[in-house]
Amino acid sequence: MFALRQVTSTTKRAFSSSAVSQAAKVAVLGAAGGIGQPLSLLLKHNDSISHLSLYDIVNTPGVAADLSHINTKSKVTGYVPANDGLKHAVTGADVIVIPAGVPRKPGMTRDDLFNVWLLIATNAGIVRDLATAAAQYAPKAHLAVISNPVNSTVPIVSEVLKKHNVYDPRRVFGVTTLDIVRASRFASELKDTDPKNVNVTVVGGHSGVTIVPLLSQCPLSFSDEELKALTHRIQFGGDEVVKAKAGTGSATLSMAFAAARFTDSLLRAIVKGEKGVIEPTFVKSDLYASDGVEFFASNVELGPDGVKQIFPVGKLSDYEQELINAALPELKKNIEKGIKFANEN
Ligand code: NAD
Ligand code: LMR
Repeated sequence: MFALRQVTSTTKRAFSSSAVSQAAKVAVLGAAGGIGQPLSLLLKHNDSISHLSLYDIVNTPGVAADLSHINTKSKVTGYVPANDGLKHAVTGADVIVIPAGVPRKPGMTRDDLFNVWLLIATNAGIVRDLATAAAQYAPKAHLAVISNPVNSTVPIVSEVLKKHNVYDPRRVFGVTTLDIVRASRFASELKDTDPKNVNVTVVGGHSGVTIVPLLSQCPLSFSDEELKALTHRIQFGGDEVVKAKAGTGSATLSMAFAAARFTDSLLRAIVKGEKGVIEPTFVKSDLYASDGVEFFASNVELGPDGVKQIFPVGKLSDYEQELINAALPELKKNIEKGIKFANEN
């Protein structure tokens, strides 16, 4: 289904004997939104899912009824806040995907999503509340956070889980897959090649300069000018969509594609017990902890318990080292902001 899926060359079809179960309950929180609906549609096609549980503050019963007519095996249920909807939506979930929140408008940065609205409506507050429900009713779930700013919402989720004594850093992911999808598409477009053969490693975080594409490691070669322009396009790809949507939102369809790919990879590792599944994702990481950066996106091998192995960034060109140097202080600030929010609210 996903042409861009990354698998190591040595372990493409190796399956572990310790596959945890045959199919999973996956909850989508924010399921009636711009990302939530197409993501849920794509997940309805995923045969690793036995129960697709949809939660939003509005419209979820309709979305669930609609999807439930698709003739794939999974059961679909929809919940709104009434009658303990959130509790029922997440209870027993193996994976919880969170695209709930406010998208950007032109002129805003992702960081602005943290504080421009009344506290109750900020993405920080939304994610905190959803993570609290996950901690209470699905403490073993794998949490894939899409809501922006990812650099801060992932630390918020982690802090909430810590407060409830159920934090396992192997099970909390910031979904940065869209950066990889874009990098592959933009690079192959420039060289007129098929993106399915172009995997670009992207590390760091998910906003502006914190998005660091490692184009020196991809199979294509670029002039210095191309490299700069391409790097900038990958870092600010989200702005292209925000601008084109002219105030009606940010990327939804490409994001749904990216999140479905990430969820599928996670399920192949945790449900099917497939080995060698590698996805880039923003996780608790030691790679730059000595610079005070506790979370960092890089290629991660996924296993039955979530993060199995975090790969280092590999050999960097001088230009990429400069990009990393610019990303680290910004990332540190974003992460600290998330942690502070979680501890003060
Ligand atoms: P949207 O406004 O279309 O949908 C958001 C949905 O969240 C709505 O249906 C809304 O009702 C719901 N919601 C709000 N509060 C909620 C709560 N407390 N509980 C459950 N649901 C709640 O927005 P969208 O375009 O789908 O974007 C959602 C988020 O994803 C934004 O924060 C956006 O910035 C982010 N995003 C991230 C990436 C990424 O690469 N990680 C890419 C695109 C968008
Ligand atoms: C994206 O990369 O498209 C998303 O993070 C949405 C945004 O605000 O740009």
